[in-house]
Amino acid sequence: MRSIAIVTGASSGVGGEFARQLDQGAGGALDELWLVARGAERLEATRAQCSTPCRVFALDLTRPQSIDALAEALDEAGARVRWLINSAGFGRFGSFGSISRDDEVNMVRLNCGAVVGLCHLALPHMDGGSCIVNMSSVAGLAPQPELSCYSATKRFVLDLSRTLNYELEPVGIHVCAVCPKFMDTGFLANAGDARAVRRMTTIGYEQPRRVVRKALAAAGRGSATCVPSWDAKFIHVAVKLLPSALTLHAQDLLFTLLSGV
Ligand SMILES: NC(=O)c1ccc[n+]([C@@H]2O[C@H](COP(=O)([O-])OP(=O)(O)OC[C@H]3O[C@@H](n4cnc5c(N)ncnc54)[C@H](OP(=O)(O)O)[C@@H]3O)[C@@H](O)[C@H]2O)c1
Repeated sequence: MRSIAIVTGASSGVGGEFARQLDQGAGGALDELWLVARGAERLEATRAQCSTPCRVFALDLTRPQSIDALAEALDEAGARVRWLINSAGFGRFGSFGSISRDDEVNMVRLNCGAVVGLCHLALPHMDGGSCIVNMSSVAGLAPQPELSCYSATKRFVLDLSRTLNYELEPVGIHVCAVCPKFMDTGFLANAGDARAVRRMTTIGYEQPRRVVRKALAAAGRGSATCVPSWDAKFIHVAVKLLPSALTLHAQDLLFTLLSGV
């Protein structure tokens, strides 16, 4: 049976990097890569960088019909899903009321709904050794001021991944949530309130290549979470000890001190 990897968000940033590293063999032998995002041309650009045969699916994953189309394609292909990478996602910075209702709702549809839909459609085609990698964020480790809806979606991804990893352990399927800091990708180019972006990105950036390498390794060894940077690891521990109101105040103060705004 053919082994495939499905990578959402493969037209840009982290998803593109996952596609390239899987193409180079970082996740074992694969017969095909399935690349998913809205932009057909940019998906073709990712395909052009891969030597593994690719299928391109130009789909808007906020639409239930897109999830249905992928489910049908997978049933027809009868392939084994070795990797499912849920990287498609977006975030809007700013106070809750300053972000449009469409953006808030679509963040939930894409960052949570599509992840649930894809896990559900892929699982019947997975077996022992298959892995799901879900892009969460450092924002999923603690509620974030001026990133309320986005951080809540990433918390959802984190908790879903932890529970699925536990439930699926007996059949040898691993599910890992990845919680990086900011990365200089398309994500930040269109993220809304520039002042809020400037304040929060003072915690620093990570390199997508390193994050993806660590994520594939963590998923392969069965870790439910991958927190690549040392300071995000510190946040991970600190928020377990502090009440959430104090966590919000502490982050607000930290961003003000670091950014000066
Ligand atoms: N960059 C960061 O600072 C950062 C930090 C922590 C976590 N993350 C998470 O990492 C993941 C990848 O982000 P990135 O940095 O690679 O951002 P990116 O460069 O903006 O890539 C986002 C990808 O999602 C796709 N996408 C967006 N809306 C879509 C939709 N409605 N349907 C299907 N695909 C859609 C985009 O392609 P199209 O526009 O062609 O659809 C693109 O391929 C996201 O889940 C993000 O939340 C990012």
